This record gives sequence, structure tokens and C-alpha cells, in this order.
Amino acid sequence: MAAALTLAALARRASIPAAYNLALMPAVSFQGVTKTYADARTEVRALDDVSFDIESGEFFGLLGPNGAGKTTLISVLAGLTRASAGRVEVHGHDVVGDYAAARRCLGIVPQELVFDPFFSVRETLRIQSGYFGVRSDKRANDAWIDELLFNLGLTDKADANMRQLSGGMKRRVLVAQALVHRPRVIVLDEPTAGVDVELRQTLWQFVARLNKEGHTVLLTTHYLEEAEALCGRIAMLKQGRVVALDSTSALLAGRASTMLRFKVDAPLPPALAAQARVTGRTVQLKARDAQEIETILSALRSAGCPAQDLEIGRADLEDVFLEIMHGESAHPAAAVPA
Ligand SMILES: Nc1ncnc2c1ncn2[C@@H]1O[C@H](COP(=O)(O)OP(=O)(O)O)[C@@H](O)[C@H]1O
Ligand SMILES: [Mg+2]
Repeated sequence: MAAALTLAALARRASIPAAYNLALMPAVSFQGVTKTYADARTEVRALDDVSFDIESGEFFGLLGPNGAGKTTLISVLAGLTRASAGRVEVHGHDVVGDYAAARRCLGIVPQELVFDPFFSVRETLRIQSGYFGVRSDKRANDAWIDELLFNLGLTDKADANMRQLSGGMKRRVLVAQALVHRPRVIVLDEPTAGVDVELRQTLWQFVARLNKEGHTVLLTTHYLEEAEALCGRIAMLKQGRVVALDSTSALLAGRASTMLRFKVDAPLPPALAAQARVTGRTVQLKARDAQEIETILSALRSAGCPAQDLEIGRADLEDVFLEIMHGESAHPAAAVPA
């Protein structure tokens, strides 16, 4: 079973002494995680035997369509939801049996905006750091809070009340809140959904810096170009199962095919429409080689539907994602490295 093959499980089985054991430990280890939500009439299997490790220092992407189980997996990791089966460890700490130690390693930016409207931004951050018991060196801690505020463009909002902030500003505070206890593992659940370009750039610069400094990052996002640019490795979830797990470059290379992008004014011939990705007038079609490109272009001409603004490029992560999500049935076991 895949769960038995994780590094953490191997280290445990080999009874490696604790110190080595910790050094070997992945930052996050999901082992056969299953979660079902059931009520009187229905049962939803939100996670189905999810197993993979995230090594310390990785920038890891968790991708999947709405409802794939990303937030559920993060809730299990955060100890907010109990898995129906399997286990999750953070730097070797079980998220159930060793909750406090596991939670202390984690900084979680939730998908939903949750905050206390009665406090200022700075108070919110101080309360959070008190909650993690990092009060010991108050000056160093205040300096870190100032650094967080600065890096997230919040300095001039430090004394503003939470309820006075715009949605984008609240999201920045959520990020600062997650980082206030300097967690080794930073988890971001769709942090850029619906936020402006400026915050996205501020956020990614800062998170990339923290990652360079050694923090592990787990990111879920709908913006595949962000994942492609930032993540070294990616897992894709579909209906609660891991359907792809590889380095970003291997995912791109494994499916490397040429993409034809063009615009049309008339309906596509049915044979092409069946394989095309269409957004308004823009059409994207895969082609293996020059011969196939010629075949497509001549089919368009004969159908009285010539290609305009033609571009030929390599498949990007979005192409790979769509191919995996809509492609042949998944082989999750084969996707999990031994
Ligand atoms: N508290 C809950 N009760 C019942 N079903 C839930 C609950 N939370 C999530 N689900 C279901 O679990 C599945 C996965 O949801 P979620 O983890 O939020 O997906 P994602 O974050 O990938 O969009 C969905 O079918 C969702 O409806
Ligand atoms: Mg979600």
C-alpha cells in the first residue's frame, strides 16, 4: 500500500534513532488519508486514500477543480477536521495525537475570510502570537510583526480596525496572522482568489523569500500560471484522489505537446470542436507535429473557418491540468513515487 512507503513510515519501521529520524522526516506526510462526510441520506467521499510527502523546504502546489478535496485536506492537516482513516504528520508530529506540536509548525492562511472585527490589525497579530506562546521576547516579536506588516503592505493600516479594511487588506492580515509565530510550514488555501494584482505580487514576493529562507510552502490555487511559476512539485486532486504527482517541469515535459492558439469567426468543424478548448472566439488545439498542424489548418480552411492571429506554443500547466482532469481514468497508485 502506498501509505506504507512514505519516508516517515519507513523511518519509523527502521527504528532510526530520534535525532536522525527528525532530520529525515518530511515536513508534511499524508498517509492513506480518507474523509467521508455523511448525513442521513448521502455520503460524500471528499478524500480517498491520499498519500504523499512534502519535503522540508519544498514549494508544493496542490491543484484540483472545485470540490476536489483541497480544503478538506488542509483542514485535516490543520487538525480542524478528523480524517475518517489514515494519518497526517507535520515534521513527525501526528496532527491528532501530537496536535499542539504539529499546529505550532504550521501557519495556515484559510480560504474563508475570518477575523474579529473589534481589534486593530496590530492587536489581531499580537493576540495571535500570544495564542502560540511566542510572547517570551516581546521586542523581537514586535519587530517581526512590524516586518510582516511592512512586507504585506500593511504598515499604514496597523492601527486600523479590522472591520474598516477592504477584502484585500483583510486577506493580507490573514497572511500576517498565519506567519506571526514563524511557522516552518506555510499553508495557503487559495490566497489570491479574487484579490488584486498588486496583492498577488506582494504576497508572492514575500512567500518566495520565506521559502528561500527555508520555510516549506503548501499552496492551493486556481491560478495555474502562479503554480507553474512558483511550485517545484505539484499534486493534482480529482474527486478526492491524487491523479498526478510530480515535479512541475516533469509534468510539463511529460505532456509536452504543441498548442495551436487562434481566433475564429465561424463554428469549428465538428471533428476539431470535439478536441478544442474554446473561450469566446479563441480556440486552443493540441498538435503533435508539423503534419498535424497542417491537417488542422487545412480542415479549418475547407470548413470556411480560417484561423486568425495564429500562435504556436508549448503546452502550459493549464493544458496539462485540463488533460489530466478530463483525460483517461486516473491511476493514482502509479502516480505516487515509491
Ligand atoms: N463540512 C462539510 N460537510 C459535507 N460535505 C463537505 C464539507 N466540507 C466539504 N464537503 C464536500 O467535500 C468535497 C470537497 O470539498 P473541498 O475540500 O472544499 O474542495 P476544494 O477545496 O478542493 O474545492 C466537496 O464535495 C464538498 O461539498
Ligand atoms: Mg477549497
